[in-house]
Amino acid sequence: VKNGNGVKGLVDLGIEKVPERYIQPPNERIEKVDEGPKEHLSSVPVDLSKLDGPEHDQVVNAIVTSAETLGFFQVINHGMSLELLESLKDAAHQFFAQPPQAKAVYLRGVSTSPLVTYGSSFVPEKEKVLEWKDYVKMIYTNDVDALEHWPKDIKEVALDYLKLSAKMVRRLLEILIGNLGVKLEDTELESLIEMKNVSMNLYPICPNPELTVGVGRHSDGGTLIVLLQDCVGGLYIKVEEDMVAGRKEEWIEIPSIPGALVVNLGDVLQILSNGRYTSVEHRVRTTSKQSRVSIPVFCSPTPTAKIGPLPQQVELHGGPLYREVTFQDYITNIFANAHEGKKSLDFAK
Ligand code: SIN
Ligand code: FE2
Repeated sequence: VKNGNGVKGLVDLGIEKVPERYIQPPNERIEKVDEGPKEHLSSVPVDLSKLDGPEHDQVVNAIVTSAETLGFFQVINHGMSLELLESLKDAAHQFFAQPPQAKAVYLRGVSTSPLVTYGSSFVPEKEKVLEWKDYVKMIYTNDVDALEHWPKDIKEVALDYLKLSAKMVRRLLEILIGNLGVKLEDTELESLIEMKNVSMNLYPICPNPELTVGVGRHSDGGTLIVLLQDCVGGLYIKVEEDMVAGRKEEWIEIPSIPGALVVNLGDVLQILSNGRYTSVEHRVRTTSKQSRVSIPVFCSPTPTAKIGPLPQQVELHGGPLYREVTFQDYITNIFANAHEGKKSLDFAK
């Protein structure tokens, strides 16, 4: 989509059927689960304010258990106001509603800003079928650069959100690493989440939600990812067979909880923990009724960081499940391929 108006531009033209290049093969299509989000999962978000009280241990336990089983959980009382979350969603809608020329300056490959990329799908040149999504991605280096280069009207809220997310992620990482019986220096912990960026995703209304995906099956490459989703819904995670008693593996829709944030474990934590923690496989469904926005913050290691199983975990499992790779090599491999479930982890095998 080169017109500077992305998938939204197609929708604005009033198309009645999605173009061929967005039609997924049957096995990748997402059936609507009519009963809605399942009760047994994530209906109880983790209350982070309780980390400071008598229920500290239970909260830590909930976080660790989610990391070991699902690679995902939701949080409330995370230190961000409802007002900030609302302004973020408004800002996202506002960004994509701009005229094409205003967005085209950030187009992938030709962006006039070193820190900002606007595009559609994931890696279109590698994909057999495109994803029904537009995005704007903002890389964080420091506050001054962000306020100079990020798009006006969205930069202030995006920056507030990124910094508060990073603070929360730092706390969660300390809990997750601590639970592995490993004591990392502050600088080592920091280096696992040093690269930060924030995206705004738009899933425009789609005339054929049954034929398309908003995002195909994938796990995230980084360490920890925070995600704000709006009330439209459509984010699904894959639950492995042995996690839900008596059930085969299945895809479960993550309920949209007002005021809550989603936290995903990325591949880096699966590798570091030698498989004790799992990164979550997830995907996004499109809808014909309402456009959806989601706003993730990605916290990832420094590019030069060497990512491999922590020695204590290797001993516990009787050998390493992954080899050591630099994060730069890991992420380069991810962006060189279309989404394909958790295949990204093969690079570290
Ligand atoms: C993604 O994981 O790429 C997006 C998730 C979402 O939009 O909910
Ligand atoms: Fe993702």
